Amino acid sequence: MPVMNTYAPHESGEAIEDKVESLLDEMTLEEKVGQLNQLNGSEHTGPAVSEVDKEAEIRAGNVGSILNVDGYEKRKHFQRLAVEESELGIPLLFGYDVVHGYRTLSPIPLGEAASWDPVAVEEMSAVAAAETSAAGIHWTFGPPVDLTRDARWGRAMETSGEDPHLGSELAAARVRGFQGDDLGADDTVLACAKHFAAYGEVKAGREYNTVDISESTLRDLHLPPFKAAVDAGVGTVMNAFTDHDRVPAGASDHLVRDILKDEWGFEGFVVSDWNSFRELIYHRVAEDEREAAQLALEAGSDMDMVGHVFVNELVELVEDGVVDEAMVDDAVRRILRAKFLLDLFDDPYRYFDDQRRDSTILADDHRETAREIARKSIVMLKNDDDVLPLTDPDTVAVVGALADSGDDVLGDWRAQGNPDDAVTVLEGIETATNAGTNVEYTKGYERSGEAPEPLREQAVEVTADADVAVVAVGETWELSGECSSRANIDLPGEQRELLEALRETDTPVVAVLTNGRPLAIPWLDENVPAILETWFLGTEAGHAIADVLFGEHNPSGKLPMSFPQTVGQVPINYNHLPTGRPAEKAEPGWGTSYIDVPNDPLYTFGHGLSYTTFEYSDLDLSAAAFEMDEQIQVSVTVENVGDTAGAEVVQLYTRDLVGSRTRPVKELTGFRRVELEPNERREVTFEIASDDLAFWTADEEVAAEPGEFEVMVGRSADDIRSSASFELLD
Ligand code: GLC
Repeated sequence: MPVMNTYAPHESGEAIEDKVESLLDEMTLEEKVGQLNQLNGSEHTGPAVSEVDKEAEIRAGNVGSILNVDGYEKRKHFQRLAVEESELGIPLLFGYDVVHGYRTLSPIPLGEAASWDPVAVEEMSAVAAAETSAAGIHWTFGPPVDLTRDARWGRAMETSGEDPHLGSELAAARVRGFQGDDLGADDTVLACAKHFAAYGEVKAGREYNTVDISESTLRDLHLPPFKAAVDAGVGTVMNAFTDHDRVPAGASDHLVRDILKDEWGFEGFVVSDWNSFRELIYHRVAEDEREAAQLALEAGSDMDMVGHVFVNELVELVEDGVVDEAMVDDAVRRILRAKFLLDLFDDPYRYFDDQRRDSTILADDHRETAREIARKSIVMLKNDDDVLPLTDPDTVAVVGALADSGDDVLGDWRAQGNPDDAVTVLEGIETATNAGTNVEYTKGYERSGEAPEPLREQAVEVTADADVAVVAVGETWELSGECSSRANIDLPGEQRELLEALRETDTPVVAVLTNGRPLAIPWLDENVPAILETWFLGTEAGHAIADVLFGEHNPSGKLPMSFPQTVGQVPINYNHLPTGRPAEKAEPGWGTSYIDVPNDPLYTFGHGLSYTTFEYSDLDLSAAAFEMDEQIQVSVTVENVGDTAGAEVVQLYTRDLVGSRTRPVKELTGFRRVELEPNERREVTFEIASDDLAFWTADEEVAAEPGEFEVMVGRSADDIRSSASFELLD
């Protein structure tokens, strides 16, 4: 009998396992199947499915969980029905998508990833957990730990970008933040690593499209963040809608049973995505509901989110001898274990504490935490002639519908985020400037992107009279998120035309970019002296942006995802493979390339400027070679040679020079965020062990291979400041 070891038990693992077993022994087959059934309280996050009488189903013991139940009192009511009016009184699990905050919103995950600050990300996830649990919700469908190289995909906004190492660090941080070290505590919630797996590889970036990747790409890029989440003790995992090797994830015993449960020893439970078990029929791998239920359960998926196929079909499948009841028992065991870990049996109403709710949600210190990570998420892409930071301008023009929108800064997956709570760019600037500064706002373009002549003319007039123009451009929040893929990733509408008009004035323009994905902005890069990438920064957006604009915070964000020159380069990623005709090695004209655009992105992974300057020196390795069971230290000295304090994200990359499969030209192997005062220098040290160099080898195992490696340290994937080499011995 397994003893919990993947997430810290509220009490001893044995005690919980004993309780699970004794409850399981009491349950009828119908009651067991009921625990595998999740209903929806509303259709906020998926298409309508067959309506059922929720109260009757709860009383009958046919429901294990409900997601998206609108309202604290309604959740309390449903829990009372389950606990006091069903035969066994097993509490319900309430699930909800708390992805970047419950009511106090942090930046969208892609924005948080730009902070490269796992400590800050963990802290913000803990704030989200405190608010979620105070609202009577036990389980968040987060963190999303998908990786993507495709800016067309709308859900890039939910990812940590293109790199497995950064994605793994942040996945673990978010799990720790949500679950804490005791799921039985009042302010922690069950987390859910999603979407298992490789959803970010949808072909052509088109939402829900098929995924067609090698086992190597799955293993080397997409699985590490999930493994990191499992190793951090995540309590649940959610299937992807998509397929791997032509098998939909929910029915893939390779993904779920072989890798997640057997190879990794995952002891939590697996929930489908919205209706994705029934969608096995639409994928054409199941004839009907009965076969869909059988395939999903046999693959190791445990709970059916709003598909109703488990509750409709599993009892008969077991009674007909088609499915072994032991498989049902294993699924039920995992779900009951989670409920015991959350201490729901001892006190099913523990999460319903009106006073805690009122004092926790949108607390001032939560806003402070959100502001801090929002500041750290801002990436300064460009700052010609040190236009930034702004120093006491007499008049600041603030241009753009996006500058006056509390709605857009919240991004997608906003849970209970409220635009009325949010600080807009305009409000942030107005608050940050003193009475002596005149702030003039003009819309410039409609939220739809159109920039009719009257709006343009007014914007030109206001800009011409100002010392500087802060122009908010980019996407409205609906242009990214689920079901929001874009084939064109330029600035929407006529925003560029507006910028062209503003360029005719002599007023320097600072572009504040809001977006849920990398955009193709070569014109902006060529024509605007300063660009801040601000994603959708959440409730404290305006204050964070003003903090950077006026120098209260020195920007330290780094891109977690490459920005292409054009959508034609997509998918594009820094850790690409060399090919047999690397552009830099092949005969001119015979290397991997396009004839119309360069291979390089506009801005590469890890790019981000600062108001100060950092210098690197004294790269040193503790040894030139080491054995498989040893490690080496890599140290480098970083100095702030400017006159402003700032944080630097020191990036360590390695390259495996020869492997049994092709190996990337470089891979992020470590990073450190260091804060340095002017003239302060710090030795930054990394450890490299063979595990850090492992990949999916030709022997079909995750392992490092002996040989020569290059090690590089720098400010970004294409700003390497120093390099050396070492040998991994057999
Ligand atoms: C949605 C999303 C998933 C979410 C679920 C429940 O379709 O794909 O990320 O957690 O349904 O809302």
